[in-house]
Amino acid sequence: MKKARGGMAENYYDSERGASEYLLFHYGAAGLRPPTGWAEAGALEFPARCVSLGLDTARLPAKARALDLGCAVGRSAFELARHCEEVIAIDFSQQFIDLANRLRQRGSLRYKSFEEGELTQARRALVPPEIDRQRVKFETGDATRLRKDLGEFDVVLMANLIDRLEEPCRCLERLPKLLRPGGQLIVASPYTWLTAYTPKEKWLGGFARGGRPVRTFEALRRILSPHFKLAQRLDVPFLLREHARKYQLGISEASSWVRR
Ligand SMILES: C[S@@+](CC[C@H](N)C(=O)[O-])C[C@H]1O[C@@H](n2cnc3c(N)ncnc32)[C@H](O)[C@@H]1O
Repeated sequence: MKKARGGMAENYYDSERGASEYLLFHYGAAGLRPPTGWAEAGALEFPARCVSLGLDTARLPAKARALDLGCAVGRSAFELARHCEEVIAIDFSQQFIDLANRLRQRGSLRYKSFEEGELTQARRALVPPEIDRQRVKFETGDATRLRKDLGEFDVVLMANLIDRLEEPCRCLERLPKLLRPGGQLIVASPYTWLTAYTPKEKWLGGFARGGRPVRTFEALRRILSPHFKLAQRLDVPFLLREHARKYQLGISEASSWVRR
């Protein structure tokens, strides 16, 4: 089994299937053809909805800076560029960053989706043409060991990232320094804790202590509250397509926080 950093989970994000599924997840709404009712349930274009629902654009200063941690193939970073003059987008997967950079350069990308067994279908990922793609800079990096010279931001987005980190607390601890006063932090997650990614002793929630359930949101509130004020908390569904007849429906909780 191929191991990712620290000997943790198999690196699905660097596999051909991971690339295909995430390109479809980020850019494939038009060609997705989900089962009847699911599109209407609002489960498509999750990365775009994390931004449109999670971000309070009225709070942004002119020339805002945004940071997208765990950006994958880049859709949420491009969406942030609608509102922010500079977006830095970081992911651990070299493959995802290479794909995001090709989308940045060309605006579109041909790929294939898995349909049934070995059968595939040609598809095209397209960044909405009205977005200024040059505002976004993609780079590989580890959200728990970010480079020191990133500077300060008006927005930090962490979409479906915390439960994929080996040390989620380490990432959260850096946030107060990354956000300017009044800056917005958006944390979206289905809280799918798995020992394949996060050793059990590092889980933020999803276990019992002293017979009481420990919930991830309460841990987030405890860690973030000294530096951030909770602005909103909402459910954001997402539909990840594995093949034509197999989908994963998740419901992330997106909490938005304002730096004190
Ligand atoms: C579940 S995916 C979510 C991707 C994207 N934000 C979205 O909502 O579609 C998790 C992403 O986090 C990335 N990732 C995992 N560990 C990371 C780390 N330590 N630092 C930065 N990115 C990481 C993976 O490569 C993958 O792209």
